[in-house]
Amino acid sequence: MGLRFIFMLTRNDKTVEDAARHLKTALSAGVHHIGFKDVGLPFDQLKDLNTAIKAGGATSYLEVVSLDQASEVASAKAAVEIGVDILLGGTHVDAVLPILAGTDIRYFPFPGQIEGHPSVLAGSIDQVVDSALDLASRDGVDGLDLLAYRSDQNVTGLMAAVCAAVDKPVIMAGSFGSRDQIEIARRCGAAGFTIGTAALNGDYPADSPELETQLRSIQRDVAGINNHLSPHAPKNLTRAFASFSDTWSPRIAGQINNMQLKLVKLEGAFVWHHHDTEDELFLVHRGRMLMKFRDRDEIVEEGEFIIVPHGVEHCPVALCGICEVLLLEPETTVNTGNAQDPRRVTDLARV
Ligand code: NI
Repeated sequence: MGLRFIFMLTRNDKTVEDAARHLKTALSAGVHHIGFKDVGLPFDQLKDLNTAIKAGGATSYLEVVSLDQASEVASAKAAVEIGVDILLGGTHVDAVLPILAGTDIRYFPFPGQIEGHPSVLAGSIDQVVDSALDLASRDGVDGLDLLAYRSDQNVTGLMAAVCAAVDKPVIMAGSFGSRDQIEIARRCGAAGFTIGTAALNGDYPADSPELETQLRSIQRDVAGINNHLSPHAPKNLTRAFASFSDTWSPRIAGQINNMQLKLVKLEGAFVWHHHDTEDELFLVHRGRMLMKFRDRDEIVEEGEFIIVPHGVEHCPVALCGICEVLLLEPETTVNTGNAQDPRRVTDLARV
C-alpha cells in the first residue's frame, strides 16, 4: 500500500477557525484523509467538521495534542461521540483504551515523551523505540503517530528505527514541508504523514500558495513517491518535452497496464533494429519523422502516428532538426531492439 497523505485542518497544533472552508477545498482537490485537533474549535464545530469530512467520502482523523490525562480522556470521549474514524496522538493509553473499546475507532497514540504545545518529542531514539514497542504490543492500539519532525534527534534515524521495530503502521507527524521529507518517510517505512501548517500557509513547494494548488502538489508528489506513474493530473506535452534536451533517450511519461507512454527527442538517424515481441506506436508531436522500412519509407507528419509491428525492421529518422515523438509500447521494449548501439537505454528517467 502506498504512503498515505493526511491533510490536517490545523496550524501550529490548533484546528483553524476557517476549517470548514478549507475542508471544502480539500475535498474538491480529492484529498481522502483529513484530520483536525482537539484544540482550537468548540466541540460542536469539530463534530460538524467530522460529519462534513465523512459526507465528502474521506476518512476522518482527530489528533490529541492536549497533554494532561483529563483533557486527553475528554478528547477520547469526544472522538467516540463525534464518530471519528481514527484517533491519533495522546500518551495516556491505559486511560484511553477502555473508552475506545467496542467502537470502530482505530487508535494511533504517540510513542515517546511528548512535551509542550506545539508538541515536542523528547528523549533519545532508543527511548522512543522502547515506548513504540510497548504501545504496539497492546491490543486496541492499531498503529503509532510518531512526532518525527518535532524531535531533536536524527529524524531519518528515528523514523527508520521505529518503523523497523514495530509491525504496526506508523504515521509521521510534525512539520512535513517538502517532497524530500515525504520521500524519506516513505523509505523509512512510514504508512502515512500529516501536513497542516505548511499547506495552509502556502509554504509547500507548488505553483502558488493557494491551498488547492498546495494540496494538488502534495498529492502529485505522493503519487510519484508511491510509484503511481499516473499522477491523476493532466500532463502537458509541450512542457514535458521542454523539460529535457537529450536525444534518443526516451522518458517515461505514464503507465497503462503493461504499456508505457514515453517521450523521446529524435535527431538525425537512429539504428536499424527490430523488436522480437513488442509492437511500437510513434506519434509525432513536433517536427517530421521518416520511418524507414526495408521495403519502403514513410513520412510521419506532426499529429500523425505510425505503428511498427514486432519483428519488422525499422529505422526512425528525424527530418529537419529535432523531432518530438510520443511512444506507446510494452514496458519491456528497449529502444535499440536487437541492435548493438551506444544509444541503447535501459534505465529510463521519468517526466
Ligand atoms: Ni523500435
